[in-house]
Amino acid sequence: MSYTLTVVVPCYNERANVAPMVAALNNALTGIDWEVVFVDDDSPDGTSTAVRALAREDVRVRCIRRVGRRGLSSAVIEGALSSSADYVAVIDGDMQHDETRLPLMLQAVQIGADMAVGSRHVEGGDSAGLSSPLRVKLSETGIRVAQALTHTSINDPMSGFFLLRRDLFEQLAGRLTGQGFKILLDLILASPRRLTIAEIPYKFRPRQAGESKLDVLVLAQFAGLLMDKALRGTVPLRFISFALVGAFGVLVNILVLQAARSLGIGFGTAQTIGTVVAMIANFELNNQLTYRAQKLKGPRAWRGLVLFLAVCSLGAYANIGIAKALYAENGHGLLAGAAGAAVGVVWNYAVSATLVWRV
Ligand code: GDD
Ligand code: MN
Repeated sequence: MSYTLTVVVPCYNERANVAPMVAALNNALTGIDWEVVFVDDDSPDGTSTAVRALAREDVRVRCIRRVGRRGLSSAVIEGALSSSADYVAVIDGDMQHDETRLPLMLQAVQIGADMAVGSRHVEGGDSAGLSSPLRVKLSETGIRVAQALTHTSINDPMSGFFLLRRDLFEQLAGRLTGQGFKILLDLILASPRRLTIAEIPYKFRPRQAGESKLDVLVLAQFAGLLMDKALRGTVPLRFISFALVGAFGVLVNILVLQAARSLGIGFGTAQTIGTVVAMIANFELNNQLTYRAQKLKGPRAWRGLVLFLAVCSLGAYANIGIAKALYAENGHGLLAGAAGAAVGVVWNYAVSATLVWRV
């Protein structure tokens, strides 16, 4: 016997919302054979413990606890892939989405839509729960970009509240980037054919407990996801992020060099200081952004930093060597410099990915 519907709930530090969520699903889903799987990234507030306590009382409650990993989209993917039900729904664990819409969403897919999306931007929908005017603006801009990219007119492509057949999810799973926050967008973009989407209006509720995990880094990851699609997956997303961080490092290097020189420090020493500061800044940025899902912490971060400095120093050495050799050969300074830098960044990327972050 298997369930009709698996409700996947990504959660991070949502302990106080777990029991209300299960109670709300219980009310909303009477008459439907459902289970719920909470996918928790080892939250320090003990979300998993709260889920397990309920799971012991109720077989319909399951817990997936991921250790050493972070990420809303990847959590959703793992939850959905753990299902054997006919349909899979995804809903936030903080009670901001309206679970009472789930039966309607299920019905829409049962009568033929590929996917049902809870939408704040159709008649009857509402995004009052968005906490600030800035978020409203960001959300509007994101929607327009996403619509252009997906060639769809879906009104709420940024929604994290949706339902689809499990077999469709499984077909698309191999093509997902799994990065960042926007799993719905990821799914739509992964589909080789245009999906028929039923938009079901709902009112986005304000958060009652806990806090939002959306921050600048998550937005940067979203920009990366869009860029990845624009490049049609020819360049790995991590490499783009790594290269952008590297470009930022060049800026840091130049600024520190100038500052040090203005303090009367000699060029050689000033450049060394600039380079080391830039490398440390790059390590931190890559750890927070490029490798957010495998972020190194505590002693492992210190070890990672030392390795990263060693890897990048070798990269710089190769960069300079290659540029010098090419320059000697054809006298084209800019080309020689660019070729050296390209070899340097590919080296740094490839080696630090395997040695430092071990992906
Ligand atoms: N497992 C896991 N890992 N869950 C996470 C992570 C993570 O790294 N980050 C966030 N979550 C969970 C949260 O605990 C919450 O249940 C849900 O994902 C949404 O996160 P929030 O931090 O509450 O996001 P939000 O309210 O700013 O954004 C929501 O609204 C957007 C529309 O404005 C999300 O639903 C987005 O998907 C949605 O697009
Ligand atoms: Mn939220």
